[in-house]
Amino acid sequence: NEGTEPTVHSAPSVDQKIKEVTILFGSQTGNGQNLAEEYAPKLENNGFQVKVSSMNDFKTKDLKNIQNLLIIVSTHGEGDPPDNALSFFEFLHGRKAPKLNDVNYSVLALGDTSYEFFCQTGKDIDHRLEELGGNRLYPRVDCDVDFSEDATEWIEGILSGLSETLEESPIGVPSSTVSPTSEGNQSSYSRTNPFKAEVLENINLNGRGSNKETRHLELSLEGSGLTFEPGDSLGIYPENDHLLVDLLIEETSWDPNASIQVNKQGDVQTLREALISHFEITVLTKPLLEKAAQLSSKDELKALLETGKEDELRSYLTGRDLLDLIRDHGPWKADEVEFTSILRKIPPRLYSIASSYQANPDEVHLTIGALRYDSYGRERKGVCSVQCAERLQPGDTVPIFIQRNQNFKLPTNEETPIIMVGPGTGVAPFRSFIEEREELDISGKSWLFFGEQHFVTDFFYQIEWQRWIEEGILTNLDVAFSRDQEQKIYVQHRMLEKSKELYEWLEAGAVVYVCGDETHMAHDVHSTLHSILQTEGGLSSDQAEAYLADLQQQKRYQRDVY
Ligand code: 2AM
Repeated sequence: NEGTEPTVHSAPSVDQKIKEVTILFGSQTGNGQNLAEEYAPKLENNGFQVKVSSMNDFKTKDLKNIQNLLIIVSTHGEGDPPDNALSFFEFLHGRKAPKLNDVNYSVLALGDTSYEFFCQTGKDIDHRLEELGGNRLYPRVDCDVDFSEDATEWIEGILSGLSETLEESPIGVPSSTVSPTSEGNQSSYSRTNPFKAEVLENINLNGRGSNKETRHLELSLEGSGLTFEPGDSLGIYPENDHLLVDLLIEETSWDPNASIQVNKQGDVQTLREALISHFEITVLTKPLLEKAAQLSSKDELKALLETGKEDELRSYLTGRDLLDLIRDHGPWKADEVEFTSILRKIPPRLYSIASSYQANPDEVHLTIGALRYDSYGRERKGVCSVQCAERLQPGDTVPIFIQRNQNFKLPTNEETPIIMVGPGTGVAPFRSFIEEREELDISGKSWLFFGEQHFVTDFFYQIEWQRWIEEGILTNLDVAFSRDQEQKIYVQHRMLEKSKELYEWLEAGAVVYVCGDETHMAHDVHSTLHSILQTEGGLSSDQAEAYLADLQQQKRYQRDVY
């Protein structure tokens, strides 16, 4: 059991139906699943019997029998459902979807307002459940990256709504409850109460002359009580570039020492501190522009937000930051207090953990690519990645938390072969996989596909992979250095060269893991798997697609892509 099987919190019976709640989550990074697991005991304490399941694990034929259905779902990429919501999403929108006249439901949508199709999957499911006859028991809540407060409001609203139903029901409050599957993480540190981890090491993995700068970061978890498994991520609360903050202050003539309230509890920071560690200043979103339009003394922003101007708006939002906005659309009718009140809170950045807790319980390692590019005549820097590259020194501390990711887990059967595709920083979790397998003496076969630009400067962890190959802990290693020859060679080209053997591994039950760039790499790797299945397995295109969908359903095709 990988912990993603439906968790039955107590056995249902027909006449107790009114007291049952089913929570279905669809989650790529784990936020949705974490919320579902946090809410289950809350509902149980209020007398409900709760089932929690990922959407894809849920038996869709049971859908129409659910009394109270809570959906927690994130949106990915261009408005797409997360991988573990795909089959449920298709079922719901398909012709075979049942009438849901007896189902009460509510949707919590997770998303990011900097994406055009904000919370689209949650919206789609909400509309569809209504269309199928379901009764909305509480309005959908769409959460931005900083979801905690809105999500809490949603569950509190549902609890009070449902509790009324419970009081009206003649059955009364049952004495359930089996507690939910806890991850066994005994730490008091969490996303809302991050641990200040000391930096132990911070080195550049790329050699001189590389086009890249990729940091290997080692942080201390000593005294935190935090634990993690291969495939989990680490969340870091980053700081904005101090120089960018100073430019903003200079541009606006705001008072750097003005007191700014940073949360509902009334905590205050100076403006400069708040711009460094509390507010997001590097991303523009449509909701931000809508609020800013009210503060601008010119009309251009309002015009940009009119219907019919979507393309111009999209283009304005791309590659610009708060400093651009402030320069472009002043003078402003707002002081620092009012202006900062329209900003989003800076969201934590998630990185796949590159080490094994079993091997190094007091440490966590990360592989972070520094992001730098030019836009509108100014160098732009990835907030967290460049903080790691330029400013974090051994001895400094950073606020961190562990983000569980049940969608990217080693097989429970130790004999199951694993195929790992991880070019660039996508290799991070596979270092954790192999370190763990070495530490626990796990004998299953393993195969890594790694790619980067140049062998000489960009072969991350080369010495470790080679040692693991020699010791038989890593069975196969195929590398693709894209720029060491005239024509590009990528990981998927290496996979094609090994089609026959790859297909044999798949037929022998291997699990395929893909980590790294979503839009290009993961998409091309998917197509390559698709064509390998056709050539080696003699499948038609549809059959190959079904084979991959089936692999996904069986959790034998897992992706951690960004
Ligand atoms: P490139 O930079 O030469 O295009 C890690 O970033 C590696 O992934 C690099 O070698 C990069 O090659 C490569 N890469 C870029 N696009 C890719 C794609 N669509 N599929 C697989 N690898 C890709």
